[in-house]
Amino acid sequence: MSTAPRVLVVDPQHPEPHLIAEAANAILMGSVVAFPTETVYGLGADAMNPKAVAGIFEAKGRPAWNPVIVHVASAAEAQALVTRWPDEATTIAESLWPGPVTIVLPKAPRVPDIVSAGLPNVGIRIPAHPVALALIRAAGTSIAAPSANRFSEVSPTEAQHVVASLGSRVGLVLSGGSCDVGIESTVIDLTGDVPVVLRPGMITRDRLESLLGREVDYRSATVSGQGAEAAPQSSPGTAARHYAPRAEVWLFESEEAESLRKALISRQLGATNESATTRSLLIHADPGSLGPGVDDRTMPAFPDLYARELYRELHDADNAGVRLLLLELPPRHDSWAAIRDRLTRASR
Ligand code: TXA
Ligand code: MG
Repeated sequence: MSTAPRVLVVDPQHPEPHLIAEAANAILMGSVVAFPTETVYGLGADAMNPKAVAGIFEAKGRPAWNPVIVHVASAAEAQALVTRWPDEATTIAESLWPGPVTIVLPKAPRVPDIVSAGLPNVGIRIPAHPVALALIRAAGTSIAAPSANRFSEVSPTEAQHVVASLGSRVGLVLSGGSCDVGIESTVIDLTGDVPVVLRPGMITRDRLESLLGREVDYRSATVSGQGAEAAPQSSPGTAARHYAPRAEVWLFESEEAESLRKALISRQLGATNESATTRSLLIHADPGSLGPGVDDRTMPAFPDLYARELYRELHDADNAGVRLLLLELPPRHDSWAAIRDRLTRASR
C-alpha cells in the first residue's frame, strides 16, 4: 500500500550542505519535509505557499481549525510576518531565541490564512537546532511546521517516530538525532494587554514573568486543566485525545500510589493476564508500590531531563503493546507545569 519516505541522515551539529540543499529544494517545490528541531520533529512546508501548507494538514490528518507555527531564522524575518512588533517581543527574542518559545502576534496579510487557520494572529519562533536553521536559510523562506505526527498522536522526538507515524505521507525526512528539549515550545500570545501563555513549555511562566517584569496569564485553548486534578482515573479512548498514546492512561499524584494499587487489584480480578501489559512511569513513587506485575520505569526527577525522555517512553509503551499506562504526576510547581500538561493530555 505505502512506500517508505526517503530518509536523509544528517549531522545534527554540522548538517551536510548538499543534504540540506536537497531538502530546501523540496520545500521550494511545495513538498512537505520532516526535520528535527530542539523541541520535537516538525513537518515543514513553505509558509508562503498555501498549497504546500495544505499538504501539511493532509499528511497529518489535522483539522483546519488548528493553526501552525512559522519557523524563521532571524527576528527581522519574524517582524516581516506581523503588523505589530511590541517591545516585549524584542525582549523575548533577544533572550530566548533561538529557542523553544513561540510568539503569537497580529499576522501580516502576506501570511496565508491557512497558516493561522483563519485567525488574525500568527505564531512564530526561531528554532535552536542547526539542521532546522540551515534548512530555513537554504530555502530562503519561512517554514510552517507542526509536529511531524498524525493528528492526536504523540509528537516525534526521533526520526523513526516520524516514519512510524507518517510513513509515505511524507516524502522526505531529515534524520538528525533525538530532540534535546523533548516537548513542544511554550506559546505566548502578545496580542493583548496582558501576555498570555497558550501552551506551557520548558520556558516556564515564571521565567517569562521575570524576563518581562510583569504578570503573565495562562489560558489553555484546548485543555480544561481538569483531568490532572481527580486522579487516579480512567479515560476512555472516545474522548478528544491529544499527545495520546494508544494505551489506556491513568494519572496519579505521588501520594495516591496506595489507592491506585487497590484500583489495579480490582481491575485485575476482572481481567486475565492484564498485568503483563501494565507499565508505570514513576518519579518519586517507589518501584513495586503499585503492586506486582507492573513494569515500573523510573523517570528523572528533574523537569528538563524528564521532558527529554517523555515522548520516547510513550512511543516505547505503544511499541511494546502496553495496554495500561500509569503515569505519576510531578509536583504542582511551575517548573513542572508543561509536563503535567502533557501527561494530562496523554490521558484524554
Ligand atoms: O515546538 C514546537 O512548537 C513544534 C516544533 C515543530 O516547532 N511545533 C508545534 O507546532 O508544536 P504545532 O502546530 O503542533 O503547534 C501549534 C500550536 C497550536 O495548537 C496553538 O496552540 C499554537 O501552537 N498556535 C500556533 N499558531 C497560533 C496562533 N496563530 N494563535 C494561537 N495559537 C497558535
Ligand atoms: Mg502537535
